[in-house]
Amino acid sequence: MKLGRNTAAELAAEIMTRPPRSGRSRIVAIDGQSGAGKTTFAAELATALLELGASVDVVHTDDLLDGWDDQFTFWERLQSSVLEPLQSGEAGRYHRYDWIAERFEDEVTIVHIADVVIIEGVSTGRAAMRQRADRTVFLGVPDALAWERLKARDPAEAMPFLRVWKERETRHYAADHTAELADVLITTGRISDMTTPSLSVEELRAAVERELPGVRTDLERLARIPGIAFDGFDFTPLERSAEAVAELLRGCGLDTRIVRIGDGHPAVIGVKPAPPGAPTVLLYAHHDVQPVGDLSLWESDPFEPVERDGRLYGRGCADDKAGVMAHVAALRAFGSGTSDDRLPVGAVVFVEGEEEFGSASLPDLLAEYKETLRSDVIVIADSGNWDIGVPALTTSLRGIVNLFVEVKVLEQAVHSGMAGGAVPDALMVLSRLLTTLHDDAGDVAVDGLVKTGAAPLDYPEDRFREETGMLEGVQLVGTGRIVERLWTKPAISILAIDAPPTSGAPNAVVPTAKAKLSVRLAPGDDRRRAYAIMKAHLEKFASWGAQVEVTFEHDGDPIVIDATGPAYDAARAAFKEAWDGTEPVDIGVGGSIPFIATFKETFPEASVLVTGVEDPYAKAHGPNESLHLGEFAKVCLAEALLLRNVAAL
Ligand code: BES
Ligand code: MN
Repeated sequence: MKLGRNTAAELAAEIMTRPPRSGRSRIVAIDGQSGAGKTTFAAELATALLELGASVDVVHTDDLLDGWDDQFTFWERLQSSVLEPLQSGEAGRYHRYDWIAERFEDEVTIVHIADVVIIEGVSTGRAAMRQRADRTVFLGVPDALAWERLKARDPAEAMPFLRVWKERETRHYAADHTAELADVLITTGRISDMTTPSLSVEELRAAVERELPGVRTDLERLARIPGIAFDGFDFTPLERSAEAVAELLRGCGLDTRIVRIGDGHPAVIGVKPAPPGAPTVLLYAHHDVQPVGDLSLWESDPFEPVERDGRLYGRGCADDKAGVMAHVAALRAFGSGTSDDRLPVGAVVFVEGEEEFGSASLPDLLAEYKETLRSDVIVIADSGNWDIGVPALTTSLRGIVNLFVEVKVLEQAVHSGMAGGAVPDALMVLSRLLTTLHDDAGDVAVDGLVKTGAAPLDYPEDRFREETGMLEGVQLVGTGRIVERLWTKPAISILAIDAPPTSGAPNAVVPTAKAKLSVRLAPGDDRRRAYAIMKAHLEKFASWGAQVEVTFEHDGDPIVIDATGPAYDAARAAFKEAWDGTEPVDIGVGGSIPFIATFKETFPEASVLVTGVEDPYAKAHGPNESLHLGEFAKVCLAEALLLRNVAAL
């Protein structure tokens, strides 16, 4: 199969280089989608052949159909009255169907024993046709362009009928592998050829504006579903949340299913094939959210989104249900799935259901659905912007290793008056062990973790203090520029400790204590190596021979993106347009998205664009998480513009 845009002339010359397979005529079968221009192409090819001095006849299968419903008898008619005679070197003879009188004409139409007989409109996937034809050609066309041609050609009343016809045709071609089996695949036009091309910047602005209220309603609907993938939670909301996402994607005309591997949580994949010649863009987000933590710290119900001062408050309103909705908004802006569908790219939407719990089944999901997820550009809407009003492309993310460390000193608690002073208690041991993780300046003191330098961006200390809500007098830890501490040096946070609660604690030496640690890895580090280093460190530094057990929770590799090349230019131009002329900055983030490294390993050629809805005040993972609605509108527009720009690459 040749993929390309061979002109009729090239094809004509190529056809004439070889003798007929049988009989005296070379047979060329042409098929393609309605609106691909089969008739026009057959005429062009005939002209090109005539110019080469060849004799040509053309048979249109429409002339052999017995009306609209005839899908079967025409084939026999074609065989017996055209193909068989020609094969044995005789002229063909058939009765042409009169579409107005709705009957076959009495008059006989002759198929001449020409050098080439072109048969237009016959499935190039049929085995019998492939055996007989000297050349099979399939014409591909972007769906939107095909519709434009059909609208210009046929009356408006025919459109509903054509819609059904085209659907059947698409299914038939897929089942028959018509396009793949053709010798020559020709694209008869690109989206950019349309007289009503995909949408202009201004049209997209208006379209996003038009879609935003519905997008907001759907965002709130998603945000009411408490889908949390952490161990110990009720997982049924994750099923509902996957179902809700799937419905949204189906609404955009995507062929959608909910997938999972083993006891992994449900992910959603929606696919819309690329118009011929256009790239495919994978749009990533996750539908699971973080646990809400201490409910008393929330100013309103985490799962009942409410707007205050231009922000929408609720768990997942930003991270990452707004990411899901940015994708939906962009697709809707192009009318994806409607009869006026102008989506200029192929889309694969992948919405994960366990990102916040470390994406355990992700490598297997990627392996299983590798072909479905294959794409040229991927947009990960799960990061954020540099500031309100300043867009950003995220070009590095830290990796992560979460683990537990448990220390044991006694079989059970014993009277602290009787044993204290001679038996170390588990909390002493754990505390001492945890203090070995950092030096006095607060830098990570575990040997062997990677550290690198960060982008020359200035993150003023005042701004950082304010955005994070640090209390008066508390000093920053670590050394080096703030962006380095956050993005390109390792960090170890003690997330939780299991120990007796203070209220009601007896006077007893504590036998066991357990901490949960989260290690953020600098770009360039490796999650498996880092876990081994951590485990060795914790086992080595436990005081007084206490027993130590280190267990793994989940991990993800860090990533650095070389954000140069056309896809990145396309993204930056889209951002600048959406933020009314403000240039985007390249940022790193200290958080992790395990999907990116895994995806990049599978598809090293794809360009990865890490975007997102978060702003410095979003408080993702904390109480009172929120989404800045004004910025969200810009994110949606930027994504739509990005798809438009990528289509033109
Ligand atoms: N949206 C975040 C990643 C992120 C964090 C981007 C900060 C930009 C700034 C993502 O959903 C997340 O929180 N990931 C987890 C991953 C982990 C559980 C493997 C994280 O970083 O804790
Ligand atoms: Mn998150």
